[in-house]
Amino acid sequence: MPLGEVTSPRLPWTRRHLLGIEPLSVEEITLILDTAVQMREIMDRPIKKVPTLRGRTVVNLFMEASTRTRASFEMAERILSADSLSIQAAGSSVAKGESLLDTVKNLEAMTPDVIVIRHSSAGAANFLARTCNSRIVNAGDGAHEHPTQALLDALTLRQAKGRIEGLRVAIVGDVLHSRVARSNIHLLTKMGAEVTLCAPPTLLPQSFSNVVTLNWRFDEAIEGVDVVMMLRLQQERMTSAFISTTREYHAQYGLTMARLKKAKTDVVVLHPGPMNRGVEIASDVADSKSSLILDQVTNGVAVRMAVLYLLLGGGRE
Ligand code: CP
Repeated sequence: MPLGEVTSPRLPWTRRHLLGIEPLSVEEITLILDTAVQMREIMDRPIKKVPTLRGRTVVNLFMEASTRTRASFEMAERILSADSLSIQAAGSSVAKGESLLDTVKNLEAMTPDVIVIRHSSAGAANFLARTCNSRIVNAGDGAHEHPTQALLDALTLRQAKGRIEGLRVAIVGDVLHSRVARSNIHLLTKMGAEVTLCAPPTLLPQSFSNVVTLNWRFDEAIEGVDVVMMLRLQQERMTSAFISTTREYHAQYGLTMARLKKAKTDVVVLHPGPMNRGVEIASDVADSKSSLILDQVTNGVAVRMAVLYLLLGGGRE
């Protein structure tokens, strides 16, 4: 049944919130990715506007800095004709000491359909889903999950490689502080990829050692991989000395052209952004033909369109 100009998928979508990748099944992930392919087609039209979510209201509540995620949710909402407003911590009453729960309860009193939340505390989105009436989308909660990032990464890999199953993926960098790594570990292992995590021992948690390979030697971890996913060094989350210097870090864990040659010849490079050029990734790699970094950003809009569409009834018969 078409809703606006988007064809409803065959499988029903039953979830009220998108809080993480961990609870999702392979079928649910595939449904979001297949729906995002339809959304991508709308983005390629000269007139990028469909009436699918007309009359629906979305609040984008960003309590932590963002460029890509916030802009792409806003773009997704506009293309789907939803009404939306964006609130940031600076300039809101959070700056006067209002709690997250009070902030959200007050926004809910204005009857939005969905609240998209980014917060520095792990578990913030789950907390709101338990305590509020609105549908909640997690746009990144502390070092916990960033589900739409992993979904846009998966869409980008499916476009580039035609599949996710069987791909050899190295996730490299500040794994310890990375919600992007966590969501991608859940997604890639569920979808049948072979994942290696690579970081200095201080930034390499053991918690996923039952489902991934751990290797703190980058020159070994990169050998023969199909995908290198670089992570930002999150110095703002570091409470002690996890690395010696950024120069030393780049020497051991920076992705350079010389290192990239050890991967497969058709290797692709992902990075969620923002990049620390010259730290985790050399500029010539970031701008090379192997880099899909800007394709990830484009696909972020399509994935966020798909998520909003499914949560607001597009996946129900
Ligand atoms: N990838 C990502 O979450 O980027 P932003 O922090 O700019 O949203």
